[in-house]
Amino acid sequence: MARKTLRDYIRTIPDFPHEGIMFRDVTTLFADPRGFRMCIDQLLHPFADQRIDKVVGLEARGFILGGAVAHQLSVGFVPIRKKGKLPAATLSQEYQLEYGSATMEVHDDAIAKGERILIVDDLLATGGTAEAGIKLVERLGGVVTGCAFIVDLPDLGGRKRLEDMGMTVEALCA
Ligand code: PRP
Ligand code: ADE
Repeated sequence: MARKTLRDYIRTIPDFPHEGIMFRDVTTLFADPRGFRMCIDQLLHPFADQRIDKVVGLEARGFILGGAVAHQLSVGFVPIRKKGKLPAATLSQEYQLEYGSATMEVHDDAIAKGERILIVDDLLATGGTAEAGIKLVERLGGVVTGCAFIVDLPDLGGRKRLEDMGMTVEALCA
């Protein structure tokens, strides 16, 4: 039997959370020891030669990935969360989703000026969430070295949106 690729561990759930959305469910990838290891190794690979001071993970699945990536790099991890979840002083950034709108927040002391940041999330769709994350990092004076995702949905334009901002975008599958 052929070796499983990363894509084989991800399942698609039709009409979740709304009709017409084909939801890419990465929990099946996270639950598999080979799949999860492969995923973290592949996410890191393009950035192996770069100095990274901190990993930023976008709520919620970016926390699972970002924690593992930060541990592997022996650097700190910073969560960017949905509005109202972080306990100390925050910066806020509004953004549009594929379905709805929301606000992301970061602790205002989480990143120092000039720190080099890798942003991690499970999936790139319209790019609204990642753009909000990039803006928050940059408003704190951080330098985004790249954005790494498991899945890119190219039809939704997120990669172009981030590349037009001058970002390096890496995704493991479409
Ligand atoms: C998903 C996904 C990304 C975002 C991508 O999160 O994990 O964070 O959508 O969409 P975009 O590129 O159009 O912004 P979701 O908003 O479903 O939140 P959750 O992780 O808290 O469930
Ligand atoms: N976030 C936005 N669109 C999504 C999708 N199709 N699957 C999983 N997460 C998403």
